[in-house]
Amino acid sequence: MAWKNEAEAREQIKAMVAEYYHDFKEKKTPYQEGDRITYAARVFDEKEMCALTDATLDFWLTTGRFADRFEKEFAKWIGVKFAHLVNSGSSANLIAFMALTAPELGDRQIRKGDEIITVACGFPTTVTPAIQYGAVPVFVDVTVPQYNIDVTKPEAALSPKPASYPHLRAHETVLVPVCRLLLEKKKE
Ligand SMILES: Cc1ncc(COP(=O)(O)O)c(C=O)c1O
Repeated sequence: MAWKNEAEAREQIKAMVAEYYHDFKEKKTPYQEGDRITYAARVFDEKEMCALTDATLDFWLTTGRFADRFEKEFAKWIGVKFAHLVNSGSSANLIAFMALTAPELGDRQIRKGDEIITVACGFPTTVTPAIQYGAVPVFVDVTVPQYNIDVTKPEAALSPKPASYPHLRAHETVLVPVCRLLLEKKKE
């Protein structure tokens, strides 16, 4: 190939990848009501394919310049000081849970033996960090077909023990009223 330099080579390779995306990967028909929405589909377009190609051509196989940029821009976007990338959803669950065990949280710290309220239909690694730490998961049933916390049943999770930590996946419209209700009940 008659490339003048690496930068030009990259641009040409990425332009070809973008074309490849449009020719072979792009969904040509727009979404229509009744189309299947998959739970964990890969959602990408030529921008992701080109970014992936860029990273591949760096051949930097661990956290590097793209991760640094993502952490900074994501933190800014959601309005927090720091964001930390991890390798998987399960690792994210683990560090999110462990952050809630920090002594700096004072009374709000989750301690060993505390009960944590979670949803009966969730991902296993939502629960495993709590068990690993020594907290006790308490499950609240779900509604079908939403598979979200049944807001009519949170009292079932109430016991005299301290409880905290709602499920990471429950939608906030469900979570906020459930947490409020539980906290009120605890105070009674
Ligand atoms: C709430 C939650 N935790 C954990 C996971 C698992 O992620 P991973 O397979 O990347 O560990 C998922 C995946 O969908 C998830 O939704």
